[in-house]
Amino acid sequence: MATGLAYSDGAGSVEVAETTVLGRSEVRVSRLGLGVMIWGEASGLQRVMPAKSAYGGADPAGEQAAFEASLAAEVNFFDTAAMYSAGGSERRLGELAEGKDVVIATKFPLTPLGRAQDLPQTLEASLQNLRRSSIDLYQHHFPSHRVDIATLMGLMADAVEAGKIKAVGVSNYSAAQMRTAYEALAQRGIPLASNQVQYSLLHRQPETNGVLDTCRELGITLIAYQPLASGALTGKYLEGGRPVGIRRFREPFRGPKFHALRPVVTLFAVDR
Ligand SMILES: NC(=O)c1ccc[n+]([C@@H]2O[C@H](COP(=O)([O-])OP(=O)(O)OC[C@H]3O[C@@H](n4cnc5c(N)ncnc54)[C@H](OP(=O)(O)O)[C@@H]3O)[C@@H](O)[C@H]2O)c1
Repeated sequence: MATGLAYSDGAGSVEVAETTVLGRSEVRVSRLGLGVMIWGEASGLQRVMPAKSAYGGADPAGEQAAFEASLAAEVNFFDTAAMYSAGGSERRLGELAEGKDVVIATKFPLTPLGRAQDLPQTLEASLQNLRRSSIDLYQHHFPSHRVDIATLMGLMADAVEAGKIKAVGVSNYSAAQMRTAYEALAQRGIPLASNQVQYSLLHRQPETNGVLDTCRELGITLIAYQPLASGALTGKYLEGGRPVGIRRFREPFRGPKFHALRPVVTLFAVDR
C-alpha cells in the first residue's frame, strides 16, 4: 500500500517523505505507506490464502530489510490486518516495530464471518500482537451483511473513548456506506478518518463511483491499496517475465488489464 511520494535530494543521500493527517483525526502519517499483508508466519490453510500466497513464500530477512529501508526513507506508516495470516502479519510487525516511533494501521475482523460484537475481543488480540497499548488507525476491513455499520461504529467509538484507538477508518466502503459510518461516528463527536480502497492507474473506479468525491466532501482521507497494481505498473513484467506467487494467474498479469498496461507504463517512461 502506498499513497504518495518519497524523493531524494539529487545527491542520493537524503530521502524525505511528505506527511499528511488522516482526515480530521490527529494522526499524522507519511504519505507513502507500507502494506505488510504477506509478512509473518502462517500456518495450516493460512499458507495458501491469497493474502499470503499472492507474492510467494515467507521471507523474514526481506521483511526486516523492507522495514529498515522504510524508516530510513522516513516512511513511518504501516498497514496490516487481523486477518492477514490470522494475526501472523500483526505479530511480525509488532516484533519489528517494538520501541519504534511508527504509525500502525490494522483492521477488524479476524475472519470473514466476524460480527460487530467481536470487536472488543479482536481489538485486544491485535493490541497484544502489535505489542501496543493503542492502535493509531483501526479500520473495518470490508462491508459485510453480517456487520451492521452503525453498531460497529458505536463499538469503535467506545474503543476511542477507552484510549485503545486513535482514529477510526473503513476499507472497501462505497460512498453510501461511508456516509452511514461517518454519521454514526459524528453522533459521538468522532471523525471518520479514512477509507482504504483499491486505487491505481489501472483501477480508477474511486474517481467515478462517488468514493473520492465523498471523501473530499466529508474530509476523509482516501488510502490507496495496490497503488502499483501489485507491481504490474512498475513495467518490469511487460517483456514476458512473470511475478512470483499466485498473483501471476490474475489480472493485471493476464487478461485485458495486462494489455492495458503497456501504454500506461510507456507514458511514465516518457515523463521521466
Ligand atoms: N484493504 C484491503 O482490502 C486490501 C487489499 C489488498 C491489499 N491491501 C493492502 O495493500 C498493501 C499493498 O498491496 P500490494 O502489495 O498488492 O500493492 P502494490 O504496492 O501495488 O504492489 C507491491 C509490489 O510492487 C512492486 N514494487 C513495489 N515497490 C517497488 C520498487 N521500488 N521497484 C520495483 N517494484 C516495486 C513489488 O513487486 P514484486 O514483488 O513483483 O517485486 C511489490 O511486491 C497490502 O500489503 C495491504 O496492506 C489492502
